[in-house]
Amino acid sequence: MDYQHLTHYYKGKKVFLTGHTGFKGSWLLYWLHMLGAEVKGYSLPPLNEFDLYHKIHGNSLCHSIISDIRNGEQLSQEILSFEPDFIFHLAAQPLVKLSYEIPSETFAVNTLGTANLLDAVRHLKKQCSVILVTTDKVYENKEWYYPYRETDVLGGYDPYSASKACAELVINSFRNSFFNTSEYSKHGKGIASARAGNVIGGGDWSKDRIIPDIIRALSKNEPVSVRNPLSVRPWQHVLEPLGGYLHLGAKLSDNPTRFSESWNFGPNPEDNLTVEELVHLAIELWGSGSYKKTQLVDQPHEAGLLKLDINKTTNLLGWTPKYNASEAVNKTVEWYKNDLEGNDNFIGEQVKAFQEQND
Ligand SMILES: NC(=O)c1ccc[n+]([C@@H]2O[C@H](COP(=O)([O-])OP(=O)(O)OC[C@H]3O[C@@H](n4cnc5c(N)ncnc54)[C@H](O)[C@@H]3O)[C@@H](O)[C@H]2O)c1
Repeated sequence: MDYQHLTHYYKGKKVFLTGHTGFKGSWLLYWLHMLGAEVKGYSLPPLNEFDLYHKIHGNSLCHSIISDIRNGEQLSQEILSFEPDFIFHLAAQPLVKLSYEIPSETFAVNTLGTANLLDAVRHLKKQCSVILVTTDKVYENKEWYYPYRETDVLGGYDPYSASKACAELVINSFRNSFFNTSEYSKHGKGIASARAGNVIGGGDWSKDRIIPDIIRALSKNEPVSVRNPLSVRPWQHVLEPLGGYLHLGAKLSDNPTRFSESWNFGPNPEDNLTVEELVHLAIELWGSGSYKKTQLVDQPHEAGLLKLDINKTTNLLGWTPKYNASEAVNKTVEWYKNDLEGNDNFIGEQVKAFQEQND
């Protein structure tokens, strides 16, 4: 996978990025800035002063709008006045466990937020490539060993997964009704959704996510509490799907009618690890530590087995992952260690190394 070509697509281009204050959004903002793009972000404020967004001095890398995706009127004004060449939509309530506490809000933000964004794009009078980020959890999970393909049935047991599956239906409906590829010359929009797997990487401090839980425990010399040791997930370093989104954006701008579809971004099959394997690896790379399995009492349902099939993406989009699972965990642990040692520009070093790494 060669990322050297990205500058050609993004340098001097206007990029509207929702979710720019979040974990993946901050990494993407940094990368887009490195590529020379002019970015306008639209999100809620960063959660606290330790957030990655502050670490990268996010306000100096973009024109930051702090507002709610549910405010369709403002969202529309911000998009239309900016006239973007690209839109990356990442803003979401992304946590499964929290979605059981605030189900209605999760649907409003994830599903209706996506509809608000596409509604605004209807009124944009210029060519634009729109990449909408959903998740690997959009598929009806059958708890089997077969990886899910883009053509599989959408579903979602918990509110988060269902809200993103609904977002996929919204995307399909808008694409058919207003951005039909057969009428591209009239509307000028390429519309694609990106379904990525579980992402790990430096700067994530979210609650109830495995890497932040591991780092919080290891840095305090406490055992890591592991909730679902046998759950299998398609783990990837954060730069993998982000590189995929940027590559998809480039492809969409070259050939919008060809690539206006949904795409899976996940690891190679051998890199699907159980939670327990991931924790082992992280402790080994950290250099010390232990873990304990915690009893699950009255825990809400979470999928046990989830794999993604990336054949369509590798064959048609020409995208492949660069890091195996061990390298992904290594890069992640390396980031947190550097952070603890006060190296503030490690994100730049990691993006550069990733771009230059041979497959
Ligand atoms: N992290 C993962 O493992 C993973 C895996 C698959 C898909 N995703 C998807 O990637 C995207 C980014 O996830 P993340 O891990 O960076 O999450 P995050 O929680 O770190 O960031 C979420 C972003 O969305 C913004 N946001 C939330 N509610 C909003 C609202 N009502 N209005 C405006 N902005 C709002 C936040 O301000 C923040 O900028 C999400 O769409 C998520 O569903 C994440």
